[in-house]
Amino acid sequence: MGNIFEPQCTPSLLGPDDNEGSLKAKYELGMFPKRLGQGQFSKAYECSSRDSHEEAYALKVFFQDADAADHAKNELRVLRVLGHHPRIIRVVECDREEPFPLRLVLELCRGGQLFDRIKERGRYDEQDACAVTRQILEAVAFMHGRGVMHRDLKPENILLVSEDNDIDIKVCDFGIAKVADRGFMPRSTSFLGSDYYLAPEMIRQEEYGPEVDVWAAGVSTYAVLSGTLPFMGEGGDLRQTYEKIVERDLKFDGEAWEDKSELAMDFVSQMLLVQRDKRPNAATALHHPWLVHCGLDEDTVQPQVPFRSQRPLIAGPQLSMGSPPSVICSTRQAPYMLPQRTGDEAPASFPSVRTDMIARKISAPAVLNGSQRVGTSIV
Ligand SMILES: Nc1ncnc2c1ncn2[C@@H]1O[C@H](COP(=O)(O)OP(=O)(O)O)[C@@H](O)[C@H]1O
Ligand SMILES: [Mg+2]
Repeated sequence: MGNIFEPQCTPSLLGPDDNEGSLKAKYELGMFPKRLGQGQFSKAYECSSRDSHEEAYALKVFFQDADAADHAKNELRVLRVLGHHPRIIRVVECDREEPFPLRLVLELCRGGQLFDRIKERGRYDEQDACAVTRQILEAVAFMHGRGVMHRDLKPENILLVSEDNDIDIKVCDFGIAKVADRGFMPRSTSFLGSDYYLAPEMIRQEEYGPEVDVWAAGVSTYAVLSGTLPFMGEGGDLRQTYEKIVERDLKFDGEAWEDKSELAMDFVSQMLLVQRDKRPNAATALHHPWLVHCGLDEDTVQPQVPFRSQRPLIAGPQLSMGSPPSVICSTRQAPYMLPQRTGDEAPASFPSVRTDMIARKISAPAVLNGSQRVGTSIV
């Protein structure tokens, strides 16, 4: 899992010990703090409560720069709006908020990133992939219900609760999440996210909403099932990657897909519909027959369970367990049949390095046109 132990350094990871309520007064890290993981803006360590040594937590320490401070502030705000959900990391406490919170005490996930677990396992079998996907979507449906879009869903930001269970997850890292005003759904035009997981509407730099999380969950499901990414330019080339996304160059190639069901591929295909009004929302996607029935004996599955969307989901015939998926979906131009497995092209491999969040120092159309990076703040 890549956990390492490092000596305590100054200034203390827990911050100043200047009053009774300080994190340092309430928590301890031990002589050699165990590092749980690292992201682009923070490192996380295991800590325990001084009151009860049994209670272990994660201490997320943000880096000391303005970007990290923005992420810290935003994450804390969003986590507070979200409240508690079993599939979303819970904030227990934070540093003094002035000038900004530099440390968050979070509930602990000992199992590390889903990214590392996929790499360890190569890929998940369908039943386990289905269980993980279901939980991701439960978290996404919940946050969308609370008016929050995550915008950086990816296996690096999905944590395994324990070291010896491959399925139980929690979504973390709300650093670039956006909260809508009460009663509204969040919308934005900011170019934020992580390259391989960006939805086409984001790359086209259109106004977008929570549908981008459904797309990213679809990319993550593809990764869990196959150990590869659906859209990746040669050698990670950004321009090619973006082209593949906007053209929805989706293939189910290679050995990994040979033992996967048509239903699994259908699920991924629907999550990755270019037209966002056709893409299911998270709550609807939970009713897809793959998620409803995976792991059940085929003989016990009732064929009449329909996959119904509040919005139209597919342009073609409604799916049911009885019929093999023959899904027609739409690109910006004409509807076309979903690409089937062809097996004649090597699939993109799972990147060996984590995908950076690109708080967008770049404009997508600019990349497609071969020009320069620009800055964007979290809005
Ligand atoms: N609650 C937690 N339990 C265990 N590990 C955590 C926890 N929160 C964060 N981490 C580890 O720290 C990494 C970085 O945290 P993350 O929230 O993704 O912040 P960043 O914005 O820096 O990417 C995570 O990918 C994970 O490895
Ligand atoms: Mg992260």
